[in-house]
Amino acid sequence: MNSENTTRDPDLTRLLDAVGAALLDRTAPGTGVGDLSRRIFTALSTPAPVDAVATPARLPACDHLDTALEGARGGPGAAVAEAFGRLVPRLAWRHKIGDFDAAFLAGHANTYFAGPGGLEPRQDVVIGASLLAPNVRYPDHDHPPEEVYFVLTPGEWRQNDDPWHEPGPGGTVHNVPNIRHAMRSGPVPLLAVWCLWLGL
Ligand SMILES: [Fe+2]
Repeated sequence: MNSENTTRDPDLTRLLDAVGAALLDRTAPGTGVGDLSRRIFTALSTPAPVDAVATPARLPACDHLDTALEGARGGPGAAVAEAFGRLVPRLAWRHKIGDFDAAFLAGHANTYFAGPGGLEPRQDVVIGASLLAPNVRYPDHDHPPEEVYFVLTPGEWRQNDDPWHEPGPGGTVHNVPNIRHAMRSGPVPLLAVWCLWLGL
């Protein structure tokens, strides 16, 4: 299949368009996060062929997904939450790769909309989401790809040893390459969409 002839699934289109619109509305060209967002969503304007789709899968943390989406539907991430909800039956939820304790594994799940292993497999970007049950801390991590989060719920983020901060629903977080970062939920589940640039 030639990518020029590829048609993207309408529900995935809705989700990617909503995330792209949210990030482009909230970030300015000429800034690091603005340029990253534009690079990612310009690349995504060309769909990639879908020749294999991951089997839908749930994890224990998914018990908190409805609560997180319901909260997000009432806030500035409503369009993203609405589109996210339509895709739920098709999502494959997985654990972050690594060696984690049972409490973290019981309270965390990742899913991938686009990118390697995603609903739309592709190599240039990764668009996914992280879900944390209440009172779970996502470990410090770092990675070479630059990253921007679109935050859908309450929850806190930290970079290096800076103080924890709460972007709030509709907020964004920008991680430059290889910066150490983490997030944690409070009394309600944390849900955020993240976008990584893998291309050159
Ligand atoms: Fe990250």
